[in-house]
Amino acid sequence: MTSHEAPQIHDFLDRGRFPLDDWRLVETYPRHEDLGVTETLFAVGNGYLGMRGNVVEGRDSHTHGTFINGFHETWPIQHAEEAFGFARVGQTIVNVPDAKIIRLYVDDEPLLLSIADLLEYERFLDFRSGVLQRDILWRTPSGKRVRVSTQRMVSFTQRHLAVMTFDVELLDESAPIAISSQVLNRQDGEDEYHVRSKAMGEGHDPRKSDTFSRRVLEPKYSWGSAADGRVVLGYRCVDSGMTLGVAADHLFETDNEWDQSVQVDDDLAKITYRVNAQPGKPIRLVKYVAYHTSRGVPPRELVDRCRRTLDRAKSEGLQRQFEAQRAWLDDFWARSDVEISGQPAVQQAVRWNLFQVAQAAARAEGQGIPAKGVTGSGYSGHYFWDTEIYVLPFLTYTSPQWARNALRFRYSLLDAARRRAREMSQRGALFPWRTINGEEASAYYAAGTAQYHIDADVAYALTQYLGATGDTDFLNRAGIDVLVETARMWVDLGFWRDEEEGTFHIHSVTGPDEYTTVVNDNLFTNVMARFNLQAAARAVRELAERDGDSYTRLVTRLKLDETEVEDWERAARDMAIPFDEHMGIHPQDQHFLEREVWDLDHTPLDQRPLLLNFHPLVIYRFQVIKQADVVLALYLQGDHFTAEQKRANFEYYDPITTGDSTLSGVVQSIIAAEVGYHDLALRYFLGALFVDLADRHRNASDGVHVASTGGVWSALVGGFGGFRDHNGVFTLDPRLPDGWEQLVFRLTLRGQRVRVTVRHDELELFLEEEGADADGVVVTPTIVVRGKEIEVPSGDPVIVPLDGQGPRLEGNPPPVAGRRRADGTVISAIVPGH
Ligand code: BGC
Repeated sequence: MTSHEAPQIHDFLDRGRFPLDDWRLVETYPRHEDLGVTETLFAVGNGYLGMRGNVVEGRDSHTHGTFINGFHETWPIQHAEEAFGFARVGQTIVNVPDAKIIRLYVDDEPLLLSIADLLEYERFLDFRSGVLQRDILWRTPSGKRVRVSTQRMVSFTQRHLAVMTFDVELLDESAPIAISSQVLNRQDGEDEYHVRSKAMGEGHDPRKSDTFSRRVLEPKYSWGSAADGRVVLGYRCVDSGMTLGVAADHLFETDNEWDQSVQVDDDLAKITYRVNAQPGKPIRLVKYVAYHTSRGVPPRELVDRCRRTLDRAKSEGLQRQFEAQRAWLDDFWARSDVEISGQPAVQQAVRWNLFQVAQAAARAEGQGIPAKGVTGSGYSGHYFWDTEIYVLPFLTYTSPQWARNALRFRYSLLDAARRRAREMSQRGALFPWRTINGEEASAYYAAGTAQYHIDADVAYALTQYLGATGDTDFLNRAGIDVLVETARMWVDLGFWRDEEEGTFHIHSVTGPDEYTTVVNDNLFTNVMARFNLQAAARAVRELAERDGDSYTRLVTRLKLDETEVEDWERAARDMAIPFDEHMGIHPQDQHFLEREVWDLDHTPLDQRPLLLNFHPLVIYRFQVIKQADVVLALYLQGDHFTAEQKRANFEYYDPITTGDSTLSGVVQSIIAAEVGYHDLALRYFLGALFVDLADRHRNASDGVHVASTGGVWSALVGGFGGFRDHNGVFTLDPRLPDGWEQLVFRLTLRGQRVRVTVRHDELELFLEEEGADADGVVVTPTIVVRGKEIEVPSGDPVIVPLDGQGPRLEGNPPPVAGRRRADGTVISAIVPGH
């Protein structure tokens, strides 16, 4: 296999260690070598609060991690050479005090997983109960057998709440036992034994988080009472001023003799239970934990909120929490499950991925969806276009309320985006490439700020959401402002050249491919900007017709001038779309084809990914792609390309795409499927499916690749299911992989849930749950299947016969080197430095 090809089909996981299970990720023995990866894989979270899968004992770890979405510290970005408009405010998610820790001592010997004699071990994350559980049988150094079972759950129904249980039972002889439950502020990774977390010694990697050498959390409040079983801590971030309260409540149950003590200081609050334990007399500790955060509410008040959360949780009881979690997840799976019969490994991994999207997005409310969700500090907890292009499709068609929340969050950044546009000498609004608080945080502008396409990505996701839900209220109150301000940005950024011929150009921007930066007329940017301009014009014109009052308010609010809308339409119509007649492809940008190609086949594997081994300039000099760019345009704007163009473009770009970003594989899978490379599509899909599960990019320890997990859904539904939504017209043109019996997925269209079953010779559409759109209107779902309009009324399923699964191309696209450019020169392949 050459380095840039999609991986071969095989099972990526060691099934002796991670056995097949439809609804759980199970680990049958722990390994120290990949602790960081399993901490990510077994993380629990709800989009607000996330806890890595650290062992409950708190010692053995790669990275201790508890994260709260949006809870960040700021710092001044020091550029070696300053320039006007460079990002100034660094923003880094804070690793908050760790409430996961419950240490166990038997005969004064600590349970330490890495050295313990474990007679039995099993750990699993259950996607239906939403609980992480570990069961072990430990033989202590003096030979006593102790059963220890622990559970950890971050509640989906109460987003500030986490619940843990800790059960211990001696099987043979009596022994003194101590259980120490803690809330520990580790100060950015360093543990209480002053061991720097393993992750901190791993050298520079731009995909990791920035770390602090100073104190980040100033202690503001601490309190504890052994009798109440409650401890409380409050903090304030030194620079961002954000505040945090954390509290833990304990319920201790046993028939053994026991007592308890409490210790609280600035960075540690703990309750210790000492027990004279007898065999056959079980011990149970239940720990409820609450976190509240704010931009500035005093920590004392947050602590009060924590108390209220805990009082309620405790009075409801443990069982109720588990039941609520289960019911919540039952609903989630009813709306969102994708079933692949006869493919247990795929099935399990698909569910793990979809579960991750829920963990990243469900309760993000008021915040964005970080690139790593709340499972790690990778990319410093920032929000990127990942949300709109990779995560929102899944949410829009399965959990539209969450999509709305994410879009509302973007809307809340509109003022900051307006200011940023001014700073960048532009009208309208320019959303930051990466941010937490709305300010641009990408210090490297060429692969950051220059990605103006973020504006169009937001407009795109918004338009899809509006089309799929009919949420005109959201459009009128928020969405339309985003459309107008982004359209204004494009028309101001671009310019007309050759007035008579009238082409509209956009110069000096970067497309999604970060291996080619600051270019003129990036194809992806131009087609997406065109979409953005058209969508804004349409929305404004429709509003004027539909709702005169809202339109008048809009005109006043945004000082909108009629002629502006005409300008947007004209710019969209005249948009320069680079096309090379000779090669029959769309160049990625105006000068892309002039470069030689990077010879990926002869690049040693130890020099991958390129971004960690070559200076950016070296990379920029070549036709070599980090991630799908033109190919992504073929997917998102597929109605603007012919089938021949799609195939020719895919065949050109696929061999020069490294896939060094995990945002690539899912898109390559979708277009490979569409144009007919069925095997390749499946290989790309499987590669993406196991990105984290098999640590294929060797950085799963930094957190889940959330864009890829969302992309897995897009690859299933958009790639194999062949689902597209262009301007509110829903179409299906399936490409079921050869070895799969059938593929089942759900789409919620205007509040009606349609179950789609793809088989080799037919498609079945069934209205699984009836409903109304956001305005209360009942719209019978209509889906165009290979050109034929099919209505899906309630009642019996509709069966549509299928004549095969689309075109079929074998193998991989041919190499690019050796092809001739329009000017007759031959494209050569080079490995820099060789
Ligand atoms: C990709 C970006 C992405 C970011 C965060 C980068 O490696 O090139 O497209 O937004 O990761 O996931």
